Formats: sequence, C-alpha cells, structure tokens
Amino acid sequence: MQYAERIRRLESEGAFAVLAKAKQMEREGKSIVHLQIGEPDFDTPRNITEAAYKALLEGHTHYAPSGGIPEVREVVAEEFRKTRKVDVSADNVIIFPGCKPVIFAAIMALVEDGDEVIVPNPGYPTYRSVTRFLGAKPVPVPLREEHDFRFSLDEFRSLITSKTRVIILNSPENPTGGVLTEEDLEGIYRVAVENDLWIITDEIYSRLVYDGEFKSILSVPGALERTVAVDGMSKTYAMTGWRLGYGVMPKEMADYLFTFAINNFSSTATFAQYAIVEALTGPQDEVNKMVEQFRKRRDVIVDGLNAIDGITCLKPQGAFYVFPNITGTGLKSKEFADLMLEQAGVACLSGTSFGQYGEDYVRFSYANSIENIEEALRRIKKTLAGIKV
Ligand SMILES: Cc1ncc(COP(=O)(O)O)c(C=O)c1O
Repeated sequence: MQYAERIRRLESEGAFAVLAKAKQMEREGKSIVHLQIGEPDFDTPRNITEAAYKALLEGHTHYAPSGGIPEVREVVAEEFRKTRKVDVSADNVIIFPGCKPVIFAAIMALVEDGDEVIVPNPGYPTYRSVTRFLGAKPVPVPLREEHDFRFSLDEFRSLITSKTRVIILNSPENPTGGVLTEEDLEGIYRVAVENDLWIITDEIYSRLVYDGEFKSILSVPGALERTVAVDGMSKTYAMTGWRLGYGVMPKEMADYLFTFAINNFSSTATFAQYAIVEALTGPQDEVNKMVEQFRKRRDVIVDGLNAIDGITCLKPQGAFYVFPNITGTGLKSKEFADLMLEQAGVACLSGTSFGQYGEDYVRFSYANSIENIEEALRRIKKTLAGIKV
C-alpha cells in the first residue's frame, strides 16, 4: 500500500528508543539506572489531582470549547500577566493537550513550503521534525558550550535569508539546561523585527531555573504581536501524563488555532482543564519542594561527572538535564551512550540525538533520586576506567 511522502519526514525521539531498549534489558534481568527520561519522577501534587477528580464528579465530562474553557484561559492569561509582565487576556490563550500540539500547530500556521525555520541545535528534536514534516526547512543555530549553550546574535543574523519565517527559542533549554539572558532576548527581538520573523518560545521549563530569574521574550515591549509562547503542566507540576499545555499569542493566531482544534481533537479533556486552575492558583509548596530537590540533584550530578576522568560538565542554570562534554574519553557521543547502556547499565542519550552540534556530548536527565544518580556515577566511573588505554 502507498503512504504519503510527508509521513516519512517525521523523526522519532532518541529518548523513546533508549527507553524501549532499556526496558528490554530489564526484562532480561539487567539493572538499569534511567537517566534518559525527560519527566519528573514525582507524583502530581494531591490538591491538583483532587481538583480534577472533583470536576469529574461534578459532571465536567462533556466537550469543552475547542480553544479551552474561558475561565481556564483567563487563569493562564493572569499567570502570564504576572510572570511575563505582558498585557494579555483570555483571547490570547489556547489550551491544548500538551505543549507539543501547540508547537506543531504554531509552526503549521506560520510556514509555507520551502520556508526556513531557525531551530536551536543541540535542541528538542520535535522542532526540526515538525518543520520538515510541514514542508519547510529547519536551519540549525549552534548552541556552544563556550557561550554557556546560548546562541550568538551574529550567528543567528548570518543564518537569516529571504525565506526565514520563524525562530524557535527554548529557555531553559532541553538538552543543555542553558538559559537565555534578558540581553539575549532583547537582541533576538530586535533581529526578529528587522527581518519580520515570528518567534516561537518554548517555555516549558520556565519554573525550573536555579540561578537568577526566568526571563521571557514576551516581556520585551511589543513582542506579543510576533510571538507564540508555550508553557504547560508537564514539567512544573509533574503532570506529563495529563496532557495539558497552553499557548499565548496574538488574538488572530489564537482564533486560527481554535479552528485547528475544532478540526483536530475537538477539545482538551474538560475535567483535566480544571487541574490547571488549581495548579496555577493553588498552593505552590509542592512545586517549590520539587525545584529544591532538582537543584540538589543537579549539584550532585555536576560534581560527580566533573570528578570522572575524561568528562567535564558545565553547571546548567535550568531544566533537569546536564550536557557533559565527553571528548576526554576518546569516544563519540553515540559510542559513549551505547557503552553506558550496555556495560554500565546507565541509560542516557547521545548528544547527536539533538542535532549535529550535540556531537562530543551526552544528555543525562537528573529527574531521578540522589541514590540512583550516585549509583549511576559509580557505574560510569568504573566502566570508563575499564576501557582506559
Ligand atoms: C523542550 C520541550 N518542549 C516540549 C515538551 C513536551 O511537552 P508536553 O508534555 O507539554 O507536550 C518537552 C518534553 O520533553 C520538552 O523538553
């Protein structure tokens, strides 16, 4: 049977492939420490689960308006007014089943065949995969270790052509944990205006910043008219399985995505949307505790990796990933990741699964307990000592 050519343009994610292999090894009796997973190991805070349960019992089990329940959109607008200092209302907000569908729909609404989208590299694979799927061309902007995994404005400028339509930002970043500064964001906005570009800013790790404060490009005066900002419940509130995300954007764009939702999934689960209200307006103690735990784990893994011969690791400012440089081991990143899984029983991702500028690096997620992280560090050290010539 025949399939459309475009379906072959979609890529899978390294994390899912490694997870499948690691699970198979576990079934065969091997012990694996999972440092490949991009999701919090905590449970959803109970007050949030109870809010959704209550909504279910109250009968919120029917279709909702396709762009989200108006009251929930207003709560998200208020969150953005507070945290991004931007004047938005419910009309600027859409609620979708996760950040990923917002990213997909936003790229789809903005590119024509042959257009170019500048994507961070190493970066979240979905950006390049969806861009290609939609008939446009992803153009990688390198994030370099010597620049704290932020990109240089000159390099960004040099990649712009008459076909460039969009720049995608992700800060704090997956996989490097890099965070863009206020100065970076102001510069990026100026270049976007000069070249009439749209900005998609994936801010899913906005609450996971350990040093300094989170900054959004939406806070730059005027940015809203050309920006789609994406955030959601998955990482901050340990709610990956709930599938709840939202986008803040110009009203015209929100209206288009509303119509897209009508044609695609009708609405995000109605009772689940009430969990957003509780998450954003209820007590934040659980989130603060999780962030503190992540900070401790970050310090343990960074110090531990730097104590291993052949590895050097910057201390990332955000998200829950470290992206150590492994050139000193003499291994390429895929070889390193394979060796760790097969010999050390430590699952991690090759830097190249995030693009070509990820060569010489690997990604470890520290969304795991300190005991497991310490066990992984012991195994990595022992395995590398064994291959030393
Ligand atoms: C940068 C980034 N954006 C988006 C997502 C997906 O978010 P959601 O679960 O809300 O679809 C992830 C998950 O790993 C991510 O790392």
